[in-house]
Amino acid sequence: MPFERAAKTADVAAGTIHEVQMAGKPVALANVAGKFYAISNTCLHRGGPLGQGSLQDKIVSCPWHGWEYDVTTGKVVQNPAAGVACYATEVRGDEIFVDIA
Ligand code: FES
Repeated sequence: MPFERAAKTADVAAGTIHEVQMAGKPVALANVAGKFYAISNTCLHRGGPLGQGSLQDKIVSCPWHGWEYDVTTGKVVQNPAAGVACYATEVRGDEIFVDIA
């Protein structure tokens, strides 16, 4: 699957996470100190929207019940054996591309 455009770099400020739709699939796109990371938007617990959670450094907390995920890997902080999909990202000019394969 080729990389697809996800957002403009200016739309995902450092220290924030956003929900973006890519080919009908919600993706959580985070900016950790200027580097972009993309993980599945859907929390493993009950499907909460991770892209609407709060980001502290590289950890996003699910807005529904607080499960925490490392956005650089998709792993659950309290149980790294579990995790959501983590997608490769690439910046081209002023746009962020994500490989949601
Ligand atoms: S749905 Fe994410 S912590 Fe419950």
